[in-house]
Amino acid sequence: MQVVVKRDKPELVATDVLAVFLRQERTLPSKSVVAQLDARLGGRIRDYLESGDFSGALNSTALMRTGGTIQAPRVLLVGLGKPEACTIDVLRQASATAATAARRVGVSSMALLPPAYDVEPGEVGQALTEGALLGLYALKKYKTAPENEDKDNLRDLHILASASTVQRALENGVQRGQILAAAVNLARDLSNSPGNEVNPSYLAQTAQEIAARTTLSCHVLDVNGMREHQMGCLLGVAQGSDQPPAFIILEHAPKGAREKPIVLVGKGLTFDSGGISIKPAANMEDMKMDMSGGATVLGTMQALAQLGYPRRVVGLVPSSENLPSGNAVKPGDILRAMSGKTVEVINTDAEGRLILADALAYAVQELKPACIVDLATLTGAVVVALGSHATGMMGTDKPMMDRLRAAGDYSAERVWELPLFDEYSKQIKSDFADIKNVSSGREAGSIIGGAFLKEFVGDTPWVHLDIAGTAWTRENRPYIPKGATGVGIRLLVKALEDMVEGATQPAAKSEKPKAAAKPKAKAAAKAS
Ligand code: BES
Ligand code: MN
Ligand code: ZN
Repeated sequence: MQVVVKRDKPELVATDVLAVFLRQERTLPSKSVVAQLDARLGGRIRDYLESGDFSGALNSTALMRTGGTIQAPRVLLVGLGKPEACTIDVLRQASATAATAARRVGVSSMALLPPAYDVEPGEVGQALTEGALLGLYALKKYKTAPENEDKDNLRDLHILASASTVQRALENGVQRGQILAAAVNLARDLSNSPGNEVNPSYLAQTAQEIAARTTLSCHVLDVNGMREHQMGCLLGVAQGSDQPPAFIILEHAPKGAREKPIVLVGKGLTFDSGGISIKPAANMEDMKMDMSGGATVLGTMQALAQLGYPRRVVGLVPSSENLPSGNAVKPGDILRAMSGKTVEVINTDAEGRLILADALAYAVQELKPACIVDLATLTGAVVVALGSHATGMMGTDKPMMDRLRAAGDYSAERVWELPLFDEYSKQIKSDFADIKNVSSGREAGSIIGGAFLKEFVGDTPWVHLDIAGTAWTRENRPYIPKGATGVGIRLLVKALEDMVEGATQPAAKSEKPKAAAKPKAKAAAKAS
């Protein structure tokens, strides 16, 4: 879909639907743009509000015909909820609500009248764009005939600008929103697609394609490369599968950026049956999404390249299947990680930490990073602890965790910290090897996973994000259709950008409107 910023007056814009966002208030602010529009409409909007037919509750809608009073044949009222609760995420949600409502009607174009908001216009443009593009996401590739009533004709989205200064800022935000939404939808496609298509070679191929269309460089280690690097844990997990594993390295190296890289690591387990410690059959099909951390890293790398992020970033995705076979790794087997540490495999279903161990060791030994952030659908225990509304966070670097927490509040991909006290590390001591991949009981399952990973990061500042609960949703949300969520991309981009700009900005609070800057020039402009 095309998103374009236009200087048209709301009553003159040629569009199938004009979407108007309203807070949950009984009256229209006098002299506001909406009040002026309503005068042209003969008070229709006021009527809806005063009668209570439209409350303005968040994500509520009312569609009306305009009867020739303005250019657009329809106005769609979209609720923003209580004025005091109008965060930036409310804009994403409301925009998605507007876009999906327009799709249901079957129209081909919609114009959005941005509400007055206490943030810079660029953020408004970005949030509206993200919401619409993320909300309209659907994976249709595997359906031979359209099955729902959605007519899906929506091709043009116009965002109305009130002045030329606002227009430039909005355009900048729209561009950023398009880049981020494309990255998230790419990750969703990968996680929603079945394991017989998205296998390690497919992920590697996708990484190569991302590199081909951006400034990123891509290198993929095959089994021989893994042997050369002595990645015994990744090879151990992969040995039960007929599909060859892949170790994907995507690098963003902007000119002149000579400092140590930031490394992002994503679990790329393309199907997790549990291996010899096989999982129960119920819902096992969902384990095609066990490469969501990897998908998030690929999407994030694409977005960082397209945004012209000023620092060096390397994305690593160890990718494998986890299947039982005559060659599969068995409980009791001992594997040697790239770092040299030996690992007793107690449970073959705790495979994510094994493939991540080699990726973390690779990062530390080969890249000498400034910091590492890993994302993994690592434990069912984090779903028990936090459900699907927060990502579990553990790590060794408080400033980075603070940054991620603030970024998560902004992107509405919230993270919640769990402790990594030394006592937990004692629980993974092995009688036969250096460490074992699970502890003896079922206590603190997510933390045990984190404690295991910590064994491989040395003193590199590191944060682990357990996205097992947030990478997938069983219910439709305003801009997250059910299935893969693409969680983590907007979060990481925000956190990484905040690292460059210094201070973090609290959600939906920002200073006066700034002059627009092209994404590439943004960091430089702020620094000067
Ligand atoms: N991929 C799973 C974790 C998972 C669970 C992801 C639910 C998404 C939704 C992981 O490899 C796994 O199987 N973890 C085990 C660890 C256990 C054996 C210590 C688990 O959580 O049961
Ligand atoms: Mn598993
Ligand atoms: Zn897994």
